[in-house]
Amino acid sequence: MSGHRLEGKIAIITGGASGIGAEAARLFAGHGARVVIVDVQDKLGRKVAVSIGEDRATYYRCDVTDEAQVENAVKFTVDKYGRLDILFSNAGIMEQFGSILDLNLAHLDRTMAVNLRGSTAFIKHAARAMVASGIRGSIVCTTSVAAEIAGAGPHAYTASKHALVGLVKSACGELGRHGIRVNGVAPFGVATGITSDGTAEGDKNVEGLIAASGNLKGVVLKTRDVAEAALFLASDESVYISGQNLVIDGGYSVVKQLPSA
Ligand SMILES: NC(=O)c1ccc[n+]([C@@H]2O[C@H](COP(=O)([O-])OP(=O)(O)OC[C@H]3O[C@@H](n4cnc5c(N)ncnc54)[C@H](O)[C@@H]3O)[C@@H](O)[C@H]2O)c1
Repeated sequence: MSGHRLEGKIAIITGGASGIGAEAARLFAGHGARVVIVDVQDKLGRKVAVSIGEDRATYYRCDVTDEAQVENAVKFTVDKYGRLDILFSNAGIMEQFGSILDLNLAHLDRTMAVNLRGSTAFIKHAARAMVASGIRGSIVCTTSVAAEIAGAGPHAYTASKHALVGLVKSACGELGRHGIRVNGVAPFGVATGITSDGTAEGDKNVEGLIAASGNLKGVVLKTRDVAEAALFLASDESVYISGQNLVIDGGYSVVKQLPSA
C-alpha cells in the first residue's frame, strides 16, 4: 500500500535492516519519504534499500553505541538530502531472560548502550540538525510493552525501555519550543530477529506464545502494525501529539483479570 502521508520528508530509521525497522522503511518510502536505513547488518540493510529502490532508500552503516558514527549518519543524511524531518530510533537488543540473582552486569551495560544511549545520541544529533535548519520534525522511538510493565521482558531490557520513555518525555519537554515532537511506540511481542530465529517454524512458535498470553484474541501482531503506528506519529496527522508512549499491545498492559473473570 502506498500513499502520500510523508511526501517530501527525509527520514532516518535505525535498526532498519530487519524486523520493525525494515517494515517501517518500506512503509515510509511507500508514503513518499526518502529513508536512510541505519544498522550494523550491512548485507541485510543493503538488501532492504535495494528492494525499496535506491532513489528512495539508502543504507548507511552505523553502530548506534558510537556517538561519532551517529553524528556522521545524521551528517550523511543532511549532506545527501539537504534536511532531516523524521528520526525513527528503533535499533534495539534484548538479552536472555534470567534471574536478577545471576544478572550479568555486562549484559545490562550492553543493553543500555544500544537501547538508551544509542537513542540518546541519535536524538541529540538529529535534533541539532532539525533545530539548525528550523525543521519542525518528528522523533519516534521504539520502546516496548516492557516500558509500561515489568515481567514482559528481561531485567536489563525492561530497565532500558523504561529509561527510554523517560528520555522521550524529557526530550519532548525541551524540543517542543522548536516545534519538534518526540514520542514512543511500544509493541507487544512480534516475531522478528529479536524474538525468533527467522525460520517459518520459529516465527510460528513465537506468534503462538504471544497469542496465548495476549489480551486481544484473534489478532497476531505483525511488524506492519507497529510500522503503521510509527507512520502515524512520524506524519503530520499527529501534529499535536508529543511525549506519548503509544502502546500497541491489545490492552495487555492495562488489564489484570480476577481469577474468576
Ligand atoms: N519484536 C518484539 O517483540 C519487540 C517488542 C517490543 C519492542 N521491540 C523493539 O523493537 C525494536 C526493533 O526490534 P525488532 O523486533 O525489529 O528486532 P530485529 O532484531 O529484527 O531488529 C533490530 C535491529 O537493530 C539492529 N541493531 C542492534 N544493535 C545495533 C547497533 N548497536 N547499531 C545499529 N543497529 C543495531 C539490528 O542489527 C537489527 O537489524 C527494538 O528496539 C526492540 O527492542 C521489539
